[in-house]
Amino acid sequence: MTAQRYAQVAGWGMCVPERVLTNHDLEKVVDTNDEWIVSRTGIRERHVVANERETTSTMATRAARAALMVADLAPNQIDLVIVATVTPDHSFPSTASLVQDALGAAKAGAFDLSAGCSGFIYGLVLASGYISGGYAEHVLVIGAETLSRIVDWTDRNTCVLFGDGAGAVVLSAADRPCGVVSSVLGSDGSGGELLIMPAGGSRCPTSHETVSNGDHFVKMNGSEVFRFATQIVPKATEQVVQKAGWQLGDISLLIPHQANSRIIASAAKRLAIPAERLFVNVDRYGNTSSASIPIALCEAIAAGRVKAGDKLVMVGFGAGLTWAAAAVEWGRPVPTKPQPWLRRTLASLRFAWAAFRSPGLRLARHGYDLTLGPEGREDWRGQLRKRVDAWRRKHQKPGA
Ligand code: COA
Repeated sequence: MTAQRYAQVAGWGMCVPERVLTNHDLEKVVDTNDEWIVSRTGIRERHVVANERETTSTMATRAARAALMVADLAPNQIDLVIVATVTPDHSFPSTASLVQDALGAAKAGAFDLSAGCSGFIYGLVLASGYISGGYAEHVLVIGAETLSRIVDWTDRNTCVLFGDGAGAVVLSAADRPCGVVSSVLGSDGSGGELLIMPAGGSRCPTSHETVSNGDHFVKMNGSEVFRFATQIVPKATEQVVQKAGWQLGDISLLIPHQANSRIIASAAKRLAIPAERLFVNVDRYGNTSSASIPIALCEAIAAGRVKAGDKLVMVGFGAGLTWAAAAVEWGRPVPTKPQPWLRRTLASLRFAWAAFRSPGLRLARHGYDLTLGPEGREDWRGQLRKRVDAWRRKHQKPGA
């Protein structure tokens, strides 16, 4: 009989852009004020990218490097990279593939996951099942967003709500019960138009008209989404707790999606979760969509609010409409000190190597045809290419 496998959180990391946009800064951009934003949302400031060099993949990569450092893993030990995002660098290739390349995770599969702000939990649950099924040892799950690039900075209804950032966890196989104990994943596509970016997909491809209509920006029916969120957060939490065989009183820390402090307060009240068992940081980051829960998790760990044996519930909701909750039993003690300098140096060298590896692979791809010519030539270059191709087929791994 095969032994039962579990998936524990072995590493975590986050990255937010340095640039901070306060409510007072926004007062200069749209007709709003700090008092309105704080009283309706709890948000005081958010981080936003400062230039085109900062993207979803660059933030995701930095968060993932931090997570690998905590897990003390080399990038080539990762079997799968999942990036949950609604703001990928491109429609394709996936942001996960860009992150896999930037990390030098040469043996990993990679794909993006689109489930709105619930995406990180979807990824966590998927990764956990993949590990317990015996298909992987280590999976990177990342939530990353550059929402500042898809909000309409003239629309006060939406632009004050969102921020940029990334959070990552490494899930690793474990042989004793821990990690994701139960999960709830849900969707109600009939509410799709309540939170949507209408243009840029196959239904409504980008055109002069879509751009002039602003259809490439986030559109939201705030009050409907609010109503949905205040119902679904407590409901999904109750369901996931029941599936785990826990009581609400067993929850050590509830980490809800950080969209609005009123939604969080309403859910906490209904669930009778006191402030000391609730994590809130929406005031400093705004709604970072799929990045909000892993960022909150990282901050909760840094604040000493997570320890081995704790029972955590993470719960999210968002575009789709979707919702997701995971009950997680924390397996590992949280390290109190950073990794020794030798390990940190080694890890930095590996990341530096990845930075060379990627352009090296690109150069090799271009240089190959340039030096040996196309397939099928009859001269000495063609003969040489035939031999090299045969050698590569025999010895090389894909992507190497
Ligand atoms: N500053 C000042 N006034 C604003 C404003 C802003 N940034 N944004 C909207 N308003 C105005 C509106 O124009 C409207 O004015 P009107 O009544 O004269 O037309 C009024 O405020 C709306 O007020 P109200 O409907 O009471 O707001 P609210 O309490 O519902 O709060 C949201 C609005 C958007 C904060 C709230 O609905 C919400 O958080 N919804 C959920 C959003 C969410 O979580 N989305 C992400 C899901 S993952």
